[in-house]
Order: sequence, then structure tokens, then C-alpha cells
Amino acid sequence: MTMSYHVQAGLLCCKGALRYLVLGWLAVVCAGAAAHAAQEPEPRPISSTIAMIGAGDMGQALGNLWAAAGYRVIFATRHPDRLGDVVERAGHGARAATVAEAIDQAGIIVLAVPYAAEPDIARAHARAMKNKVLVNVDNAIERRDGEIAKQAEAVGEAIYSARLFEGTRFIRAFNLKSAHSFPTPDTVDSAEFEVPYTVNDDSVRPIAEALIHDAGGTPVYEGGLENAREY
Ligand SMILES: NC(=O)c1ccc[n+]([C@@H]2O[C@H](COP(=O)([O-])OP(=O)(O)OC[C@H]3O[C@@H](n4cnc5c(N)ncnc54)[C@H](OP(=O)(O)O)[C@@H]3O)[C@@H](O)[C@H]2O)c1
Repeated sequence: MTMSYHVQAGLLCCKGALRYLVLGWLAVVCAGAAAHAAQEPEPRPISSTIAMIGAGDMGQALGNLWAAAGYRVIFATRHPDRLGDVVERAGHGARAATVAEAIDQAGIIVLAVPYAAEPDIARAHARAMKNKVLVNVDNAIERRDGEIAKQAEAVGEAIYSARLFEGTRFIRAFNLKSAHSFPTPDTVDSAEFEVPYTVNDDSVRPIAEALIHDAGGTPVYEGGLENAREY
């Protein structure tokens, strides 16, 4: 955490107090945004519950940090029954669920899957994700993801994903950092690294910044998703 963040946050001297203040505020911001999204038939309360779609290297690195920071973390994959060890390592009330259940219960969804999995996930779940916050850490890599990587690169990976998940409040972040270089909950307080991020909706910036801070990073706002072409 940088001094300027503490200053901007009101010179709170206790980091734990700041964290819970941010979480409470996050819930209010999200709920306000959901109410604003308005004409949805059944407006749902959005909370600081995070659905981690993907529980591999990236999903665990981030999920463990956010669980320790006080978010309610739900790990979801195609095989949630195999996530016992993942949930145990994360602790702090983290649990496993199907992708549909996790999305239903979360206000913030994190996609940490191979890029080629995104179209299937979008077909099955994009509708349920509308108006929710979507953090995308995925990179399109041709040797792993095949043709879709070429298509995504042509328009920009963030723009391509945001079109798949149309209607989400989309944040691209964390995709530049190796999963193995993240701090752990034990070392997060002394971590120093920058996290460039782009968004499709300026109102989601405070949420992006809170998530980055709570993972130990310093947010660097890069503008709209078109600027994510640079990284
Ligand atoms: N690793 C890094 O250092 C790093 C750094 C920056 C960005 N990234 C990007 O982050 C993304 C995740 O990378 P990773 O290294 O964490 O991958 P990983 O270790 O291979 O984990 C992928 C996870 O996605 C799940 N998954 C795959 N298909 C799915 C589907 N259709 N629905 C739900 N879950 C699905 C897998 O579980 P099941 O197979 O059980 O479903 C697994 O838990 C990739 O796009 C990668 O390019 C990775």
C-alpha cells in the first residue's frame, strides 16, 4: 500500500480498519450501481462476494489474497468437487461451487481461465453476469488457445472479451503479472508492484482500485479497453 492511498483514504492509520471500510463501501457502491442499472426485472443485491471462475495458478494467487483481505471468495470450475485443497489453502470462509452458483451469488466475477474457454462460458453465463463487475485476467495465447487468439488479437483481447460478456462492468487487470510473482497473504503488506488496468465504464474504477490494493498492488489507470491493446 502506498502512503498516498492511505492519505486519500482519509489518513486511516490501521490497515485492517481501512480494509473493512473499503469492503463496506464496496458493497454500497455495487448495490448503488445495481439499483442504477434499473430496469432489470429482478434487481439483485450485489455484494463483495467474488466468484473466481478458474482455480488454477492465477485463480488461486488472487483468490487467496482476496479471501484473506475479507472478501467472500467462491472458487468455480468445471469440477468444483475437486477444489477441496484449493478451498482449504484459501481459508477465511472460501468455498467451491459450480460456475452458475458462484455467478449467482457474487457481485464481482473474476475470469481466470484459458482464453479459449471464454466463448463457452459466455454462452452459458453471460446473461447472468449482466451489470455485474467482471475482472478479466486472461491472455490469448495462440499456441494454447488456437484460432480465437488470432481473432482476439485483431480487435484487442479486452475488447473481444468484453463483447462476449456484453453488459458487464468490465475490468482488464493483473494479466501482465506472473501468478508466481504475486505476494501471499503473509507478505501482502510489504508488496510493491504496479497493476495497469483498463475499464469499459468509468464508474467501475473505484472497485478496480480496491481490488488491486487488496491484492497488494498499486493501480495504474490506462483508460478504456482500447488501450489494453498495449499489454
Ligand atoms: N499463470 C500465470 O502466470 C498468468 C499470468 C497472467 C495471466 N494469465 C492468464 O490467466 C488465465 C488463467 O491462467 P492459469 O495459469 O491460472 O491457468 P490454469 O492454471 O491452467 O487454470 C485454469 C483454470 O480454469 C479452469 N477452467 C478451464 N476451462 C473452464 C471452463 N470452461 N469453465 C470453468 N473453469 C474452467 C480450470 O479448471 P477445470 O479444468 O477443472 O475446469 C482451471 O482451474 C489464462 O488466460 C492465462 O493466460 C496467467
